[in-house]
Amino acid sequence: MAPKMADNARLLLDELLAELEERRRKVLMGGGPERQKKQHEQGKLTARERIDHLLDEGSFVELMPFAEHLETGLMEGLEAPADGVVTGYGTIGGRLVFVFSQDFTVLGGSLGKMHGRKIASLMDLAAKVGAPVIGLNDSAGARIQEGVDSLSGYGEVFYRNAIYSGVIPQISAILGPCAGGAVYSPAMTDFVLMSRRAYMFITGPEVIKSVTKEEVSFEALGGADVHMEKSGVAHLEGEDDREVLDLIKKLLSYLPQSSRERPPVLEPQDDPHRPVPEVLDIVHPDAKRPYNMHALIRAILDGGEFLEIQPRFARNIIVGLGRLGGYPVGVIANNPRFMAGALDINASDKAARFIRTMDAFGIPLLTFVDVTGFLPGVAQEHGGIIRHGAKMLFAYAEATVPKITLIVRKAYGGAYLAMNSKDMGADVVLAWPTAAVAVMGAEGAANIVFRREIQTSPNPEETRRKKIEEYRRAFDNPWVAAGRGYIDDVIDPAETRRLLYRHLRMLWEKKEERPWKRHDNIPL
Ligand code: HXC
Repeated sequence: MAPKMADNARLLLDELLAELEERRRKVLMGGGPERQKKQHEQGKLTARERIDHLLDEGSFVELMPFAEHLETGLMEGLEAPADGVVTGYGTIGGRLVFVFSQDFTVLGGSLGKMHGRKIASLMDLAAKVGAPVIGLNDSAGARIQEGVDSLSGYGEVFYRNAIYSGVIPQISAILGPCAGGAVYSPAMTDFVLMSRRAYMFITGPEVIKSVTKEEVSFEALGGADVHMEKSGVAHLEGEDDREVLDLIKKLLSYLPQSSRERPPVLEPQDDPHRPVPEVLDIVHPDAKRPYNMHALIRAILDGGEFLEIQPRFARNIIVGLGRLGGYPVGVIANNPRFMAGALDINASDKAARFIRTMDAFGIPLLTFVDVTGFLPGVAQEHGGIIRHGAKMLFAYAEATVPKITLIVRKAYGGAYLAMNSKDMGADVVLAWPTAAVAVMGAEGAANIVFRREIQTSPNPEETRRKKIEEYRRAFDNPWVAAGRGYIDDVIDPAETRRLLYRHLRMLWEKKEERPWKRHDNIPL
């Protein structure tokens, strides 16, 4: 009797295993070979190919592959393997990450209730464990057939985007035509990376045409150029899926697993004490001559490596990540090549957001100053430069990470304060001898302070020139500020890398507490 029962059990088990294999095969096929072929023809990878490229080989462990859509609304009879999203975890360079990858071949990667549930529960796991969530977005937005259930699915995701913000890094790759909710969730994450084959919009060209009568192409409405240059929605771009996925790996190398941990410090490959005399060839001592701030940043950072964030948006300010003696740093720098480095609405938004992202993940701030002020103009005033500029003041002041400032040339007026001055909470402020810390430029100041003298003089032009020179000698230098302790030291530029490194190392264990509050109220 006993052997017969064992045979039956074996038979049953074989059947169950065959069913498992068959179900898994179906799930792995996604929307089927035809739609996958179309995906490839559009120069895109499939959802699973993307995960394979992103993660260390063989490290992916899938969760909920057999999830099925709720048979609500108009979904009856429709197939949606894995409910259109592959979720799970794996490693990148040996570090744990959680990843979801939307499958455009399944109902256009649209998000239904179960699809949203899968992403939400992945985010819950990531927050409990303390590891980044990477979203690979390729989705037509809310799944129309599921009606309000799909909106509920989005609600679950948006809610977690907000409550886990600042807890674990959240990174979004936009790899296809993303619409509606498919762009709002990424917009709530820390970094948005975009393929040049992808689009982002809340409402597509068809809807826009019917509502506003405007005719616009996908590209002109929400292509990478738009979001990298005009809207400021995207932080980094890649030519295709692979380039975007590689950028994610690079970005993660600077970030901690969660705000409970320190960001990764590497063994320095580049001597932190190395003199940098080449910076003297980069920055011209004549304050009117623009120069290449990127070259200066690269000359000081380890190996000249700088991952610039939002490189094409608000180019008057530069933000990005690099290392100094192996320590990760977030760099903020005025760019004298655009608008003479003046701060405007977009530059303030860009810098404030970056400062807060760095502070949330414990990455020290390194600020390079060469700024004449906030950009004057009616458009700026009416656009709310007061409100936007205030974000920068606020973001620097509330940040508790190590904060070091280097004044390269001009540091004038409100922009001097907004670029992390001593009184706004900088831990260490250094200046080059070329620095000029003053309430405004010599021309403007002399015209105001000596107006009467200039007007009543027999030779106003000559008097004006004299007074400008007088003012410049008195205030357009680092010495007044250094004399009052607003600058900790005036340094030989060739020593910049060594001294910034020494101060950074000194500050690495910095602890700074803030008074208890529910949260601050940064002007938005
Ligand atoms: C269900 C959808 C879908 C959707 C597309 N599909 N959008 N299924 N819900 N929202 C299906 C199509 O029927 C098609 O199925 C497949 O996905 C691929 O779509 P195509 O149109 O053939 O692809 P393509 O030409 O590449 O165009 C992609 C697209 C377009 C630009 C994204 O599909 C589109 O405009 N979709 C509607 C976008 C939208 O309005 N979404 C709702 C947003 S509202 P088959 O079977 O033929 O392969 C929203 C609310 C949340 O998201 C807001 C929160 C704040």
